[in-house]
Amino acid sequence: MGQQIAFHKADQLKVKPDPEHLGFGRHFTDYMLEMDYSVDDGWHDARIVPYGPITLQPAATVFHYGQEVFEGMKAYRAEDGRILLFRPEMNMRRMNQSCARLNIPAIDEAFVTEAIMKLVDIEKDWIPSKPGQSLYIRPFIIGTESFLGVHPAESYKLIVILSPVGAYFGDTVNPVKIYVEDEYVRAVRGGIGFAKTGGNYAASLKAQSKAEELGFDQVLWLDGVEHKYVEEVGSMNIFFKVDGEVWTPALNGSILPGVTRDSVIRLLQHWGVPVKEKKISVKKLFKKAEKQKLEEVFGTGTAAVISPVGFLKWEDRLIRVGNGEIGPLSKKLYETLTGIQTGRLEDELGWMQ
Ligand code: COI
Repeated sequence: MGQQIAFHKADQLKVKPDPEHLGFGRHFTDYMLEMDYSVDDGWHDARIVPYGPITLQPAATVFHYGQEVFEGMKAYRAEDGRILLFRPEMNMRRMNQSCARLNIPAIDEAFVTEAIMKLVDIEKDWIPSKPGQSLYIRPFIIGTESFLGVHPAESYKLIVILSPVGAYFGDTVNPVKIYVEDEYVRAVRGGIGFAKTGGNYAASLKAQSKAEELGFDQVLWLDGVEHKYVEEVGSMNIFFKVDGEVWTPALNGSILPGVTRDSVIRLLQHWGVPVKEKKISVKKLFKKAEKQKLEEVFGTGTAAVISPVGFLKWEDRLIRVGNGEIGPLSKKLYETLTGIQTGRLEDELGWMQ
């Protein structure tokens, strides 16, 4: 892999969006990072170029067989002007795990991190700094070989784009209404559920629309074999506070190993809150709820950080979690994570770079 990162200056820079109305993933900065892979040269030609359309052959493998992986991470602007990335090494490691599953050649994690840092540094004026805002970083790799045979591509493109974002679900943290999906599944063990690849998200869209039609915000995914055990919520990992203990589904091959998931587990351990990674049946959760033992439920992800769940619907039963409002632990986790990420709180676990 070449160690130089070229810079192609744009003729004109964009007008930045109104920071009051950023939304999520709608605006993109002036530049992006691009890099190519070929069998002869490996990953090469890292360059920061003006953000814009890319040209691909209609037969490129990504369009036909979905050979693609992506990541999601964020850069924050601290009050003292420092620019902070949250655990970027975790995203780079997971990207390579996703690459391995999708038969995409591995990246040099340290070099891509350095290139991302250079890109973010060039674009630092795009990092918004109001509460809940950040610069979302979306690295992705696509198979670009022009060939319709079903085999791993011989050429790839890595691109990193940047988007100034507000809170994923809007400015107020409203607990969401969740529909337990028992017909469609997101992933099965042995499949690609643990990889961050577009196919998993494509597979989730139908059930998401169904949940919305039924008046819910998101889907709670059950395991793909028995349809009994909880896996994820929407595009996030899920946690339950039950009778003083926190439970989250154990990583079993069909669940995405979230960076926020890992950070929540570590924070809880650091605080001495009992936390268990285990197989969790939806039946047991509903029993606990009936006995008033289901205290809090929340999703975790880079985009939303912590997303509290207020209601759960399964078959013909609807339960309210706690009093339907954000619970104290969910709130503390949100405040602590965003405090560390934006440099307001001490980074006791050494996460920020
Ligand atoms: C995240 O929570 O960061 C996600 O993976 C959602 C993203 C695909 C928008």
